[in-house]
Amino acid sequence: PRYWLIVPAAGSGQRMKADCPKQYLRLDHQYILDITLSRLLDHADFSGCVVAIRADDPWWPETAASSDPRIDSCAGGAERADSVLSALEVLASRADDDDWVLVHDAARPCLHPNDLERLLTQLHDHPVGGLLATPVADTLKRVASDSNQVETTIDRRHLWRALTPQMFRFGALRQALEAAIASDYPVTDEASAMEYAGNVPCIVEGRPDNIKITVPADLALAGFILSRL
Ligand code: C5P
Repeated sequence: PRYWLIVPAAGSGQRMKADCPKQYLRLDHQYILDITLSRLLDHADFSGCVVAIRADDPWWPETAASSDPRIDSCAGGAERADSVLSALEVLASRADDDDWVLVHDAARPCLHPNDLERLLTQLHDHPVGGLLATPVADTLKRVASDSNQVETTIDRRHLWRALTPQMFRFGALRQALEAAIASDYPVTDEASAMEYAGNVPCIVEGRPDNIKITVPADLALAGFILSRL
């Protein structure tokens, strides 16, 4: 099977409270989106790459990625799952159902090449695919809605934080996303759509510093992590 890459970058990043979406913030004069893409494209062989961007996105043409012949773009959708499905449609005429698709957040520029390598190697023969994830370090409380009353403490020995890349077979991922979107199932990553469709994704342990830039302090943290990778 071949490998395809999808980078959803059509979010508005409101939690970041910046003048532009987080994938267009800069570290060392480089857009986060460009850093993220080069960390993937420089370390693995993809048959094609599609970045999903917002239709009215004025920053995309300023990126190095927009003039990279290896990279195509498409219009993203209202939710992340819609953006990923749009990108899958762009690849549909070229990809086979058994090919692998890696989906990686635009806002995760700190992917370590060893994690990418481990994901590709460990899932190579897997029927479904899976995702990078890292064990939860904090103690987690379930709290009754609309109150500050703790209901219970959740046993964290069974809990992992889902990271990206997430890697699934092209045909199965497309079907799973279509089904989840059609029934309004809340999809926050590809694995949840795959689970909803009855598949069992496999966890590949990744580094906890593969952070998603979400709040302002994450940008400085990402700069620090990248300086040490
Ligand atoms: O909002 P969140 O941090 O979960 O977004 C994860 C990734 O999905 C980001 O790279 C964001 O740009 C992308 N996204 C998208 N289309 C949306 C919402 C988010 O491509 N409608």
